[in-house]
Amino acid sequence: MSRKLRVGVIGAGRWSASAHLPGFSRSPHSEIAVICDLDRGLAEKRASEFGIESVLTDASQLLARGDIDVVDIVTRGDHQELVFQALEAGKHVLVEKPVCHDYRDVLRAHELAESKGLKTKVGLTFRYAPAVMYMFDLIREGFIGKPFVFNGYEQNSQWLNPDNPMDKRIHKTKPVGEAPWGVDLTREGIAVSSLEGYGAPTIDIGLECVGEDLKQVVGILSNMVPFRRRTNLDTERERINIDDADMFMGETRSGALFSMQSSYVTVGNYPGIEARIFGSEGAIKVRLVDEFGVIQTIHTAKADAVEFVQREIPAKYFPPGFQTTDPWSTAFYGNLVHNFCEEIVSGGRANQGNFAQSARVQEIINAVTHSHRTRRWVDLPLSGSHSLGQTSPF
Ligand SMILES: NC(=O)c1ccc[n+]([C@@H]2O[C@H](COP(=O)([O-])OP(=O)(O)OC[C@H]3O[C@@H](n4cnc5c(N)ncnc54)[C@H](O)[C@@H]3O)[C@@H](O)[C@H]2O)c1
Repeated sequence: MSRKLRVGVIGAGRWSASAHLPGFSRSPHSEIAVICDLDRGLAEKRASEFGIESVLTDASQLLARGDIDVVDIVTRGDHQELVFQALEAGKHVLVEKPVCHDYRDVLRAHELAESKGLKTKVGLTFRYAPAVMYMFDLIREGFIGKPFVFNGYEQNSQWLNPDNPMDKRIHKTKPVGEAPWGVDLTREGIAVSSLEGYGAPTIDIGLECVGEDLKQVVGILSNMVPFRRRTNLDTERERINIDDADMFMGETRSGALFSMQSSYVTVGNYPGIEARIFGSEGAIKVRLVDEFGVIQTIHTAKADAVEFVQREIPAKYFPPGFQTTDPWSTAFYGNLVHNFCEEIVSGGRANQGNFAQSARVQEIINAVTHSHRTRRWVDLPLSGSHSLGQTSPF
């Protein structure tokens, strides 16, 4: 394909403006043809900031257009319905995580995309941080040898303040018709939140580091800050039983150990990720925490030189149009978007971080949730060891 991909973006909010729109406007393979948001004023603002020709408020009108190759879904709340509609409409799809809450639905979406020859990509942002891309290449080159232990951390303090609304959509009227969330106050009933919203990209990094699937997990979800303001329209705090801190450990098929903790009530800045992989020959630590203008670092050590040293990240890992003043969101997402465009334009099989990969991550999230609810180790794959029933228990 020699012409540029024409992209339709659904959602003109904060993340769209700092990650998606800069990415598509900088990639040499794409142009943003349409911006769609329920809030026309916001969509118009983004259209003028990013030079977008067309503004819509109804996503179905965007999906019906024949001149759009790629649909980018960057809305808050559930993405599942728009994902299936976009695939049915024959569009390549980028969507924020989670694609769906139940890994089996993510797999269905993957199969639909495959059947139509469409590429997919999920906002597993941090596999595209230059430091992480460099780490993956070092692992592929054999730097760590056989993987022994992975530790992943995602910790930020976004919701440490209970008056920061739990539902961060900017509501103008109270949401109607939505099932209340976090109202089951039992230990088993705690609603999955941090693990899915924040743990997912680091679980994704961990799977690449150990190079294989997990065969079992055991985990716990916890609620540290029990009373919170539900939406921006609520003035009072209420009891909301959500996972704002969690921990799990697992084992891979060949015996490597895997640990992960995620929380948004742990003091520290965004993105709040640390990933450490230790193998038979070497170890790598990546830190993605925005501190004093530094957004990423990578340190490595070898079996015969055990003191960790910082490595310079080679220029080839930075996205098109990268500027040293870019915030982490623009720097990392630029790689994600450009890589997606390259995968579509090349027409080959390559499609990293797609719905199939997202389903692997979501299956672990579902298994950890199941482990918490049943207080025991859970075997993977879930389909082989558990009857989860027809309706989603997640
Ligand atoms: N991958 C990451 O690292 C990362 C980081 C931040 C946010 N996110 C995700 O990005 C998504 C958006 O977050 P945000 O902070 O931009 O939210 P936001 O509330 O600022 O913006 C979302 C926008 O989507 C619009 N919208 C909702 N439903 C719509 C529909 N059906 N049609 C058209 N427009 C619709 C809303 O009007 C709103 O303007 C969330 O899923 C969030 O979890 C991901």
